[in-house]
Amino acid sequence: MRKNLIIDTDPGIDDAVALITSFFAPNIDIKLICSTAGNLGIDVTTRNALHLCELYEKNIPVAKGLPGPLNRPLEEAFGVHGAMGFGDYVYDGVKTKEIDLPAYEAMHKVLEIYPDTTILVLGPLTNVAKLLLEYPEDSKKIKEIIFMGGTKDDVLHQDKPYPEFNISRDPEACEIVLNSGADVLIIPMDFGHYAYIDEEEIKRIRHINATGKLFAIMYQNYKDGHVTDGNAATHDSCATAYIIEPTLFKLEYCKPCIKYYDGKGVLVSNITKRKTRWRLAVDMDYDGFKNLYYGLMNVAKTPNE
Ligand code: RIB
Ligand code: CA
Repeated sequence: MRKNLIIDTDPGIDDAVALITSFFAPNIDIKLICSTAGNLGIDVTTRNALHLCELYEKNIPVAKGLPGPLNRPLEEAFGVHGAMGFGDYVYDGVKTKEIDLPAYEAMHKVLEIYPDTTILVLGPLTNVAKLLLEYPEDSKKIKEIIFMGGTKDDVLHQDKPYPEFNISRDPEACEIVLNSGADVLIIPMDFGHYAYIDEEEIKRIRHINATGKLFAIMYQNYKDGHVTDGNAATHDSCATAYIIEPTLFKLEYCKPCIKYYDGKGVLVSNITKRKTRWRLAVDMDYDGFKNLYYGLMNVAKTPNE
C-alpha cells in the first residue's frame, strides 16, 4: 500500500535531491508539492519545484506557499544554494504553472480527499502552521507531520542549542505545529552532516546517469557550511529516507519546545521515556541510507534516457 504524501519544500539543492529521489520511491504517492519560502524567496522555490516536476515529467500539482515567515522577515540562504537555488545548475524557465490554490488551502483539499496523508516538511514550517491556524481540525486528519529541523543537542557540540535554518527562520510556525495536536516526527539536521556525499562520490555519480550528473552539478558550490567544502550535506534526503524506509532510523519520544537564544528560535527536543505525540529520530543506519540514496538515483531516469 503506497503512503499518501504532501511535500512542503524550499528547493534548494538538498531539497531537489530529496524530491527527485522520492519521485522514484515505489511506496509513496506524492499527492501535492507545496513551495515554501526559505532557502530562496517563494517565487524561486516555486519555479524550482515546477522545474523538477517538468524535468521528470511528474504530473504532481504544485501549490505556492506564503511569501515569508508568519511574523518575521525572510532571511534567504543565497550563500548556501546559490542565487537560483540549484548551485551551478541553471535552466531556462518553466512551461507549467502552480495551481490556483495557495499551499495551505491545497493541503486542506488533499486532506479532505485523502485523510491519513503524511505531510513532510523540508523547509520552514510556515505553510503547515497556516493550514493549522485556518483549519485546526485538520490536525486529526494528518497521519503525521514529519519535518527536517533542529539538531540533536548533543551532537553539534554547541555551547548552546544550534539555531538550525528551518526552525530559526520561522520558530513561531514550529510552535504552532508542535502544539497543534498532530503527531509529529522530527528528523534533525545532524544526520545530513554525517551522511554527506564526499568529493570522490560526487565525481563518480556524475557518470552514473543524467540524475547523477544533475546532482553533481548542483553540488558544485553547495556551501552548506557544516560539511567540508566539496562534500554535499543530505539533510532533506534523510527526512525522505524515513518515509521510504523507516527501519533505517531509531526514534525516541520527546517533549520538544522552542527556546530563544539571542533572538533566534531553537528547537530543544527534551527526550522522554513516556509516550508522547512527538518523536525524534536519534540514530540512522548510515550505510543503509547510502544504499537507498544510490538505489533511488540508479532508477531515477529522466524521460529521454
Ligand atoms: O538546516 C538544513 C535545512 O535548511 C535543509 O532543509 C536545507 O534545505 C535548508 O532548508
Ligand atoms: Ca530544505
